[in-house]
Amino acid sequence: MPATPKIQERADALRELLHHHAHRYYVMDEPDIPDAEYDKLFRELQEIEAQHPELLTPDSPTQRVGGKLLEGFAKVRHKVPMLSIRTETDIEASGARNFDARVRRELGLAESAPPVEYVAELKFDGLALNLRYEGGVLVQAATRGDGEIGEEVTQNIRTIGQIPLRLPKDVPPVLEVRGEVYMRRDDFEKLNELQREKIAKGAKGEKTFVNPRNAAAGAVRQLDSGIAKQRPLSFFAYGWGEITPVEQGGPAFTSHFETLLTLRSWGFPVSPRTQVATGPEELVAYHQAVGKERDSLPFDIDGVVYKVNSLALQKQLGFVSREPRWAVAHKYPAQEQLTTVQAIEVQVGRTGKLTPVAKLAPVFVGGVTVTNATLHNEDEVHRKDVRVGDTVIVRRAGDVIPEVVSVLVDKRVQGAAAFKMPAKCPVCGSDAVREEGEANHRCTGGLFCGAQRKEAILHFAQRRAVDIEGLGDKLVDQLVEANVIRTLPDLYKLGLVGLASLDRMAEKSAQNVLAALEKSKQTTLPRFLYGLGVRHVGETTAKDLARHFGKLDAIMEASTEQLLEVPDVGPVVAESVHTFFQQPHNREVVEQLRACGVTWEEGEAAVRTPKPLAGKTIVLTGTLPTLSRDEAKDMLEAAGAKVSGSVSKKTDFVVAGAEAGSKLDKARELGVTVLDEDGLKALLAGEA
Ligand code: IVH
Repeated sequence: MPATPKIQERADALRELLHHHAHRYYVMDEPDIPDAEYDKLFRELQEIEAQHPELLTPDSPTQRVGGKLLEGFAKVRHKVPMLSIRTETDIEASGARNFDARVRRELGLAESAPPVEYVAELKFDGLALNLRYEGGVLVQAATRGDGEIGEEVTQNIRTIGQIPLRLPKDVPPVLEVRGEVYMRRDDFEKLNELQREKIAKGAKGEKTFVNPRNAAAGAVRQLDSGIAKQRPLSFFAYGWGEITPVEQGGPAFTSHFETLLTLRSWGFPVSPRTQVATGPEELVAYHQAVGKERDSLPFDIDGVVYKVNSLALQKQLGFVSREPRWAVAHKYPAQEQLTTVQAIEVQVGRTGKLTPVAKLAPVFVGGVTVTNATLHNEDEVHRKDVRVGDTVIVRRAGDVIPEVVSVLVDKRVQGAAAFKMPAKCPVCGSDAVREEGEANHRCTGGLFCGAQRKEAILHFAQRRAVDIEGLGDKLVDQLVEANVIRTLPDLYKLGLVGLASLDRMAEKSAQNVLAALEKSKQTTLPRFLYGLGVRHVGETTAKDLARHFGKLDAIMEASTEQLLEVPDVGPVVAESVHTFFQQPHNREVVEQLRACGVTWEEGEAAVRTPKPLAGKTIVLTGTLPTLSRDEAKDMLEAAGAKVSGSVSKKTDFVVAGAEAGSKLDKARELGVTVLDEDGLKALLAGEA
């Protein structure tokens, strides 16, 4: 059937699309659609081209194996081409059986012939590497590239601890080992957490990574090996390229498995999950067993690989268009899928952290149906620019919480509004604040907030706080879940009947808890203050506050400036204490606790020696001759000053060192007093 103009148009459009996405994936390491989506488009084009060969163009994406090469790396021609594996699209057990049937057919085996022996391996989701050793020394590492020519990445690869730089004496003079460089899920999470922090602190040009594979690819193909070194990578060997031939004294391997064991003995990591499987049913069993383990593996896999074990049979089977007939990849459900955002809700964690969460149209990802995905924090929502109604890529891998990785902006509905973090805690209505340099918003209603109940009670009850013996994790869980306790004062309203009615609570232990509660009522101000769980108020700060103010009411009424007068209290702590006691709900809880009989001996306020720089705002710029910036900042804050990052009319002093730039200009422009290091010291000594 000749191609209609419509089919021709579709083929052109698909090629265009695939070129675009291949560039994002292979060159930028920043795909903007899920792999499964790419595969779907790819297969559609393949099918059109199969039915209408006249539409096939030499530059069609279907005609190349791998990716484009990045500028900046030396090119390496592989001595033995790096092949790809045919993928079995059927993710059911029949996928394994079909492969076995094909192999038997190609080998011309009779039905009565014994089962074929295979090696079953994990299909690691990373980046293929060729490691070349000469005389037992790593001389070159290269990516697969297009299968013929790859990128030379030796410097970056040398930073991977799992890759041996030197091999034992008995290895063949030429040895190429092939395998997958990947990033473990925990390393990936840590890296992205670090990236999010950098972004929160205002670092330019930083981004988070879409998934471990892209993070790994980005690290391997990083032009700066110093940066590559900071990205934790791992490696598994699963094959080989050129090896000194037997005639020249090379090893006489006869099976794939034997070769892998030898590589392992030479120091290469070979997955312990690699095993021999005989006949199709053992392949099926392997696929199913690994499918169950997939979530708990420390790294991503997108399937398993079956390889004919005998190297002689492999040779007999040969290749079709760069894919060996002796190997196949058998997949699992994709870990990334498209869906739409129905709402963005804000959840409050046990410690008061506010997390925006995308409510999704249900979608099957990584083997489960997902309806929620974390958006981490305000910056992340804005950076990815996720809006209600958007079509997004969702990723779920392992036990990690599902995540929105990116938005398909072309599909945005008109008028979709940008996300705004609420100013109040959605659970208790207290103020939600974001501290300077922090990525997260927090609820300040710690004592009252339903989300923080358990944490607040456990913190209050601990030995170093008011010390309620026997009130542990499990009991608090039970009390809160049964709604017996909503806020701290409810603890002191507990009766024997209520307590003893809880599951697994004997009357004797109930009596013990009541006695402990009674005893805890007589406490000290520092313990009580620490027990309230005010953010940034540890035991030491609680003592400092108690010593300085003497009475709880004085602390509750103190302004930020007055709090700054406390020795060792800086702006972050002062702000936090002030905000905490400004929340009516928190004050109510404190009053109720006192009404329940919680009491302590109050003291007198310490004689106040006002801090010399209380209320002053100071900006540091340039390099000082002897003090580091952190030292200068600490000294200023200890003296009560607020150290700010930008110069404005409110700035009292600018301390400028060598190579001070625009901030100094601004200070002069606004007529702000400029000091050098000596001037700073004089100021601290109260001489200015
Ligand atoms: S063997 C002749 N084994 O999958 C076959 N590949 O499309 C050559 N991969 O680029 C590859 N795990 O990055 C092989 N156990 C495994 C693998 C594996 C992951 C990747 C590899 C390759 C792609 C094949």
